[in-house]
Amino acid sequence: MRNIELKTEQDTIDLAAYIAPLLKPGDIVCLYGDLGSGKTFFTKALGKQLFIEDEIDSPSFVLFKEYHTGKFPLYHLDLYRLKNEGELLDLGIFDMLETGITVIEWPALAERLLPYRTLDLHFCFNGRLRKVEVCAHGEIEQFFLAEE
Ligand SMILES: Nc1ncnc2c1ncn2[C@@H]1O[C@H](COP(=O)(O)OP(=O)(O)O)[C@@H](O)[C@H]1O
Ligand SMILES: [Mg+2]
Repeated sequence: MRNIELKTEQDTIDLAAYIAPLLKPGDIVCLYGDLGSGKTFFTKALGKQLFIEDEIDSPSFVLFKEYHTGKFPLYHLDLYRLKNEGELLDLGIFDMLETGITVIEWPALAERLLPYRTLDLHFCFNGRLRKVEVCAHGEIEQFFLAEE
């Protein structure tokens, strides 16, 4: 686990640039944090790093959007308005997620359905300072060892 300060938007872009080359199809990145903490901003930055040409916007009203113009497919979920797990299963997307990189905002209701997650990013903004706590699982963990 590692804590990173995000003093400027560029810091968030730099984080996305660090993470993007580490990701491969099937990876799932869960983005936690309150409204305005930077989850969508990070997703947009990650999309650019994966060479996605389309503008990524918040999928809040549709739960799910997919982008196919980049290095890998990017699946962007925003579960803020999700009512229950059933509604998520009804999307019928779980098999497809193995073919691309999945980023999930508000992942709490998806947690039990996910086969695993590659990265959990907990964004925090207290009105003044921004930071992110990174929890990496499996092979990717070695890239997020805490600095002493
Ligand atoms: N260091 C930073 N990292 C990410 N976003 C930042 C940063 N500094 C300012 N912002 C701004 O904060 C807002 C974060 O909004 P957004 O990413 O939509 O939040 P969320 O998806 O978590 O609700 C954006 O308007 C962004 O421009
Ligand atoms: Mg958002």
